[in-house]
Amino acid sequence: MSVGGALVFYSAFDAPGEWTAALKAAMPGLDVRVARVPDGAVEGDPAQVETALVWKPPHGFFSAFPNLSLVINLGAGVDALVARDDLPDVPVTRLSDPHMAQMMASFVLFAVLRHARDIPAFEKAQRERRWHYLHPRVAGEIRVGVLGLGELGAAAALEIARHGFDVRGWSRSPKTLPGIACASGIKALPGFLAAADILVVMLPLTPQTRGLLDAERLALLPEGAAFINVARGPVVDEAALIGALRAGRIGAATLDVFEVEPLPAESPLWGMENVLVTPHLASVAIPASAAAQIAENIRRVKAGEAVLNRVDPGRGY
Ligand SMILES: NC(=O)c1ccc[n+]([C@@H]2O[C@H](COP(=O)([O-])OP(=O)(O)OC[C@H]3O[C@@H](n4cnc5c(N)ncnc54)[C@H](OP(=O)(O)O)[C@@H]3O)[C@@H](O)[C@H]2O)c1
Repeated sequence: MSVGGALVFYSAFDAPGEWTAALKAAMPGLDVRVARVPDGAVEGDPAQVETALVWKPPHGFFSAFPNLSLVINLGAGVDALVARDDLPDVPVTRLSDPHMAQMMASFVLFAVLRHARDIPAFEKAQRERRWHYLHPRVAGEIRVGVLGLGELGAAAALEIARHGFDVRGWSRSPKTLPGIACASGIKALPGFLAAADILVVMLPLTPQTRGLLDAERLALLPEGAAFINVARGPVVDEAALIGALRAGRIGAATLDVFEVEPLPAESPLWGMENVLVTPHLASVAIPASAAAQIAENIRRVKAGEAVLNRVDPGRGY
């Protein structure tokens, strides 16, 4: 395809070399400019930059580029991007990559199986050199509630259902997914929580979902439920979650995301036997598979067509 303007890349977490190679393979001749971390400085004429592929660039980053026509969030979660007051008035898109969905679904499946098969209990027993037989539960008797049935949430829900679990899903608007009992809207939430032996949080962080799982709602979960959060920490009241885990009201948790990241060394979560902490890596953007959709959206902008995977900054996701 023919490419016009330059693309600026900013991320402190992703390898610029890999992304540059993947983008150039998808768009030969593309002028990729890697911005310096952390100040965002870029070489060359900024007026030539038309596309920004970014993960958490510094404040004021976009104002350097007067001819931006597309901002691509280098990931699925756009909360940090849409909350900025310096976002230019151009289409904003997120990555929507089947490999990313697959990576997320496999992580969620791992976490669900870990709880469903009582693996933490066996890990503890092994440390104590103790033969600890717990009769396995049948998957179909375990109710797994998935909050958020979006691109990644739906893939995860379907993957869990494929393994025979009784999967229920909850979203803002009504959804139909094969083999998943779908509910929607805030009124359905209490009943949904009360029927989740394992709860999986896959909601974007928006003004509506921030603090959604507070002490009162966490108390609705069945006694001893397992809790998995792979979405965003602030969707949950972390102090209330810690309290419920300490009391055994929530039996165990797998947490990939936290109110503050990196999780501070003094967080009690690190030392809790019934908690697995992973450092926000349930799913990541994969350059080779993401490059094709980036190329397609650049083509669409040049052709005056609607972009794919557009984010609604007003809605927050
Ligand atoms: N841990 C990691 O490594 C990692 C990696 C990637 C992404 N993430 C996180 O995972 C999140 C989910 O990703 P995704 O691609 O599945 O998101 P998505 O495609 O934007 O879908 C969001 C889902 O949440 C629902 N939702 C949004 N606001 C709601 C509300 N107020 N009440 C009820 N449901 C609501 C949406 O309902 P509708 O269907 O009705 O719109 C939709 O089903 C991302 O936003 C990101 O924060 C984490």
